[in-house]
Amino acid sequence: MDKLLIQGGRPLRGEVAISGAKNAALPILCASLLTADPLELDNVPALRDIGTTLTLLQRMGVRAERGDETRVTLQADQVSSQEAPYELVKTMRASILVLGPLVARFGRARVSLPGGCAIGQRPVDQHIKGLAAMGARIRIDHGFVVAEADRLRGASILTDMVTVTGTENLMMAAALADGRTVLENAACEPEVVDLAKVLIAMGAHIEGHGTDRIVIEGVERLHGAAHRIVPDRIEAGTFLCAVAATGGDVTLRHAAPDTLGAVLDKLRDAGLEITTGPDWIRARMAGRPRATGFRTSEYPGFPTDMQAQLMALNTLAEGTAVITENIFENRYMHVQELHRMGADIEIDGHTAVVQGVEQLLGATVMATDLRASASLVIAGLAASGQTTVERIYHLDRGYERMEHKLQALGADIQRIQ
Ligand code: EPZ
Repeated sequence: MDKLLIQGGRPLRGEVAISGAKNAALPILCASLLTADPLELDNVPALRDIGTTLTLLQRMGVRAERGDETRVTLQADQVSSQEAPYELVKTMRASILVLGPLVARFGRARVSLPGGCAIGQRPVDQHIKGLAAMGARIRIDHGFVVAEADRLRGASILTDMVTVTGTENLMMAAALADGRTVLENAACEPEVVDLAKVLIAMGAHIEGHGTDRIVIEGVERLHGAAHRIVPDRIEAGTFLCAVAATGGDVTLRHAAPDTLGAVLDKLRDAGLEITTGPDWIRARMAGRPRATGFRTSEYPGFPTDMQAQLMALNTLAEGTAVITENIFENRYMHVQELHRMGADIEIDGHTAVVQGVEQLLGATVMATDLRASASLVIAGLAASGQTTVERIYHLDRGYERMEHKLQALGADIQRIQ
């Protein structure tokens, strides 16, 4: 398994290009199932999870070709199977995003239940509840979600909690349903908005995307479209935390600062000097960060996907930060690894109290999930001495060539097999 070897203590300087958003690309790739016409995508990041999704779609018969670097063209005019097998779904929970499109277009789907992951058991009961409300006959059978429907019909659906992929699955299903669907308590994430834009370009009638009430008037069929994936706000936030932790002066290109409001606020509180333009963010840091507490919540609040990264920054800050993780029940797997580097963090249920220390010491640490791995890289970049981050396949799921991007900014970081 690959590892990252980091010699810490070097400031980051220069420019870095932010890739397309993983969590927008995943549902948008699955939206190709909704039409027999070609879907042409640009700015698709080259990530493990994207590869897994393309493999899953190709197994079903979707023709999917990667053009140059970031272009992907998909066409679902010869779909032969409506099944998502366990061996693929267990590696990526987001495979559940084929469920809504399959039932909507083909009237049937057999999708393996994703099972839990390191950060929580991650149920999909709201996806199932919504499709049942739209008339799908849906049951759990030997670890699979099995769904059938003649034609889905519009419904009013209030999810028990805000669910990002739940909103995405139901919005895609509703696009081809007969009649009007209203999604209440809908997710407002920029990735949900990006999916809505693609569906509208494909001929769907959607309003309210970006708010907690989305209204979809179903249509008979959807046609092809071309779309450029929105920039990845979590990758951008991760690099900003790295600059705040190491010091330096970095400009992020192809970024979307308007999707990062809560993150930019917190990093400014921590002492990062930030200026922004329409598609760039410049971050400068001198001196020690200030402790900055936060609570994770649904968009536009502080994103749970940035919790581990801002915690890593707080381990070095002046003062004490209180962090509360409100979205997932077990998203502190990075804490024991940060302890190995000398961090002073106390966990009490959903709350972590971080007492900043003068210096972290390089150590061998293990990645447990995608964003935990990112927080260990940030800590390693700032620590004194050498840090080895193991099991970085987790990192590769959500970050495109992170070590290359960091090397270009002056970091001493190598990937070793
Ligand atoms: C999406 O996951 C993201 N993944 C996650 O990013 C992100 O952390 C999460 O949203 C929250 O923002 C993708 O978009 C592919 P949820 P998702 O449904 O949709 C509970 C990353 O690092 N829930 O919004 O699976 C659930 O257990 C990943 O890129 C139910 O109980 O998250 C959680 O506590 C990690 N039943 C809360 O709701 C359901 O049917 C929010 O989950 C659905 C969700």
